[in-house]
Amino acid sequence: MHNTVEKILAKIKTDKNLDFTEYRESTITRRINRRVLFSSVHTIPEYFKLIKKDAKELDTLAKDLTIHVTESFRDPETWEIFKKTIKEETQIRPNKKWKIWSAGCSTGEEVYSLASMYDDLNLKTTITGTDIDQACLEKAVSQPQYNAKQKNIHFCHHDLVQDEPLGKFDLIVCRNVLIYFSEILQGKVLHKFYRSLKPKGILWLGNSETLRGESATWFETIDSKARIYRKKRI
Ligand SMILES: C[S@@+](CC[C@H](N)C(=O)[O-])C[C@H]1O[C@@H](n2cnc3c(N)ncnc32)[C@H](O)[C@@H]1O
Repeated sequence: MHNTVEKILAKIKTDKNLDFTEYRESTITRRINRRVLFSSVHTIPEYFKLIKKDAKELDTLAKDLTIHVTESFRDPETWEIFKKTIKEETQIRPNKKWKIWSAGCSTGEEVYSLASMYDDLNLKTTITGTDIDQACLEKAVSQPQYNAKQKNIHFCHHDLVQDEPLGKFDLIVCRNVLIYFSEILQGKVLHKFYRSLKPKGILWLGNSETLRGESATWFETIDSKARIYRKKRI
């Protein structure tokens, strides 16, 4: 990684307790360059000097390093395959109460889509939506996109890089988050998911994400196109 980019990330880690050091370099550099364009300076080294004296700019940069794009039922075809998978699971255990973790849920659309889909299938759930961005979580709570009265929905702050997994789940949904991480960091986070899933628990990733290297040995594939996997007993 570019030496000054490393220094910028070290400053964010110290000052903000946010660790982007193992995120994909191309995304990080692109996001920093974007902030350079919006600021009064012209180069990344000059920008580093700027954030050392401008706490507000440092705040903005830390927020800008994560991408929050989301929507309800994102990638609808994939949701259809996912719904079919859950329907099939339910035929084996109809009374199961699903404990679900939506990791990197941004402003909550994914959580509310899950609640709506499980409602449709008449299944009981507890859904925990987590993110590192507090403002996103506040929006998720204050602007629910689905009247999910019957559902147990919770939102809380959780950092996939620095925090321990939240508990044991039947399903972990982590879509369009790992794509921003280096391959090494993806492996570490996938191992957290592996530990956090109950036996035979399901992991659902985003359309451009996959299991590589050792992580591929921890799961079996339920549907390769929709990126749905099941925890293996190893
Ligand atoms: C592109 S959004 C994906 C939202 C949703 N899962 C979807 O697929 O529409 C990525 C989210 O991951 C969150 N994120 C990034 N790094 C994270 C980390 N270390 N721990 C938890 N969430 C993180 C970001 O704040 C952002 O809200």
